[in-house]
Amino acid sequence: MTPRKTQRLHGSSSHDVEEAVRILRDGGLVALPTETVYGLAARGLDERAVRSIFEAKGRPQDNPVILHVASAHDALPLWTGATDDARAFERASRLAEALWPGPLTIVSHRSALVPDVVTAGLPKVAVRVPAHEVFVRIVGALGEPLAAPSANASGRPSPTSAADVLESLDGRIDAVVDGGPCRFGIESTVVDVTGAVPVILRPGATRLEEIRAFLPDVTGRAPGQAAHTGDASPGLRHRHYAPAIAAVELVDDASPHWTGPGALLLRETTARRLEGAHGPRAALVEVLPDDVAGYARGLYAALYRLERAHPPRLLVEDVPHEGAWAAVRDRLLRATSS
Ligand code: TXA
Ligand code: MG
Repeated sequence: MTPRKTQRLHGSSSHDVEEAVRILRDGGLVALPTETVYGLAARGLDERAVRSIFEAKGRPQDNPVILHVASAHDALPLWTGATDDARAFERASRLAEALWPGPLTIVSHRSALVPDVVTAGLPKVAVRVPAHEVFVRIVGALGEPLAAPSANASGRPSPTSAADVLESLDGRIDAVVDGGPCRFGIESTVVDVTGAVPVILRPGATRLEEIRAFLPDVTGRAPGQAAHTGDASPGLRHRHYAPAIAAVELVDDASPHWTGPGALLLRETTARRLEGAHGPRAALVEVLPDDVAGYARGLYAALYRLERAHPPRLLVEDVPHEGAWAAVRDRLLRATSS
């Protein structure tokens, strides 16, 4: 692809926000902040613009993208209504009403407005309304949906800051809008409402229980596993979320590795315990909070910092095998399996 000059824009400047809208309207590519991770946005109903997202990311053509809109009202025309599958449409509207704006992506039958390239030919489309003021202002001003996968080269960790977007996409996109660090730090939960029971295709920042409050029969899946509905979320077939480090491993017990040559990603309590027992470690250690929200918020930024130090190997301490950690553990399993 032809190299592009990537402008650095700021979400706090109305001039810059207008510039982002102008670039998008012209069919360009702009990375935007959301409450989950940064997204690489382009006009979502314009086939050429969406194709250029795939090209900039090196994304496989069989992996569909999420359409982002400013309100639930704007999502409805992207899904088919009563004539197609009234139950799916009703579930989708109910969830949208209850949990948007927020880190939840709803997959339902698509309408004729949605081009094939968005859904990778699937009969369903994924839609969400992000809870981020800058994003919503931009998509609102544009007045049409924005396609936006995470703003990283395919396979890499999702970026949670403008600097980490530039790490893999500088020179490949027209601009990045800096909106500071992302509040959740992990991607949205993806739920498919079209089947006999609604299914979580990708665990994420919205917890299963929050969805269950509105769709009592929703089912989850084990972290790291493919969805049990078969076709489900094509993106989950590919290796994902992996830092550019030759070997990344998940370990139950980090203590034998404290003095070893690899880099370590630990939780705070463990780091404190090991330091107490063995003294401070000279080599590379990244420490994340013990609570799941803090851990999720810091995870991808820590992976980007670690890879910049070029360690030969990274050992990631496993996290609790509990429901609350399901989304984080899913990402760790995908980042460490090849
Ligand atoms: O938080 C997020 O979801 C971020 C922000 C930018 O919104 N976006 C994001 O997009 O993570 P992406 O493309 O990196 O991941 C989207 C996931 C992939 O696993 C993809 O396969 C799945 O959603 N997906 C998208 N459209 C789908 C569809 N029509 N049916 C099933 N799965 C779909
Ligand atoms: Mg992604």
